[in-house]
Amino acid sequence: AATLRSLAPAAGIRVGAAVDVEALEADPAYARLLAREFNLVTPENAMKFAVVQPERDRYDFTQADALVAFAEAHGMQVNGHVLVWDRQLPDWLTQGGFSRDELMAILREHIRTLVTRYRGRVASWDVAAEAVGEDGKLRDTFWSHGIGPDYLALAFRWAHEADPQARLRYNDYGGEGAGAKSDGIYRLVADLRQQDVPIDAVGLQMHVGLDDAPRADDVRINMKRLAALGLQTDITEMDVMLPLPARGTALRRQARVYGAMLQACLAVPQCRSFSTWGASDAHSWIPEYFPGQGAALLFAADGRPKPACESVRGVL
Ligand code: XIL
Repeated sequence: AATLRSLAPAAGIRVGAAVDVEALEADPAYARLLAREFNLVTPENAMKFAVVQPERDRYDFTQADALVAFAEAHGMQVNGHVLVWDRQLPDWLTQGGFSRDELMAILREHIRTLVTRYRGRVASWDVAAEAVGEDGKLRDTFWSHGIGPDYLALAFRWAHEADPQARLRYNDYGGEGAGAKSDGIYRLVADLRQQDVPIDAVGLQMHVGLDDAPRADDVRINMKRLAALGLQTDITEMDVMLPLPARGTALRRQARVYGAMLQACLAVPQCRSFSTWGASDAHSWIPEYFPGQGAALLFAADGRPKPACESVRGVL
């Protein structure tokens, strides 16, 4: 059968996966699957704050460099993930008792260092993530608390300074379809555009299950209203968790959810990529974070395509 990455260009999108860099090195079959099927990669953890700056002003780019080298060797684009988020932060930062001015200097330097290092090699950056609450209001996060709500605008401006060519994205979950959170994300990015903040795209994460997946019509309508603001969209982290062990009916329902979300993306010209949060069920965050759930991705643990993969292929 045709690979996903061979079908994607005619559909006008890239197909991506989050990559576990340690597994990339330890599991050659996993690396081969990624290189064969995808033309876009996002480091699952390798560019997060606690990994790249484990101590103040001491950067460790071992894993991030390995990811970028892997992508370049296989003609894949890289999405950097993530510059401003309030999870996976190092203790020196969260326990440091820093003033607003100090936090601004730390964040600016962090963004400048990462974005400059990969200028021209990381095409797109998740500048900020998960800033909006379920009620649609800005969440109280480490950064909003320490810097104030303008931390978001500042982060985009600093990233743009460091690489004016990079595509800059806001990425969130639970706001893919209709509802208060989706409206809140819309208001946030509309407000950023209004202030001439350099934001290019909104990432819809799409971590879902069989019973809480959004309606495809709502996803398409949401993407359209974001497009009307001049923003591109992406499905950035899709997985569809199933209760384990996953049976045939569940796998077939999962396949329909994947197909429907990809169709929504393809119906909107500004939707540029479709990524899953992992490639095969052998390396997925779901079983660890949602005990009893799993089998959430397109390929089985042995690397074979699941019904979900056939469905995605069919839609492409
Ligand atoms: C997850 C990783 O997959 C895990 O390995 C890690 O322990 C926690 O973070 N939304 C995101 C991702 O944007 O960064 C998260 O990744 C999953 C949810």
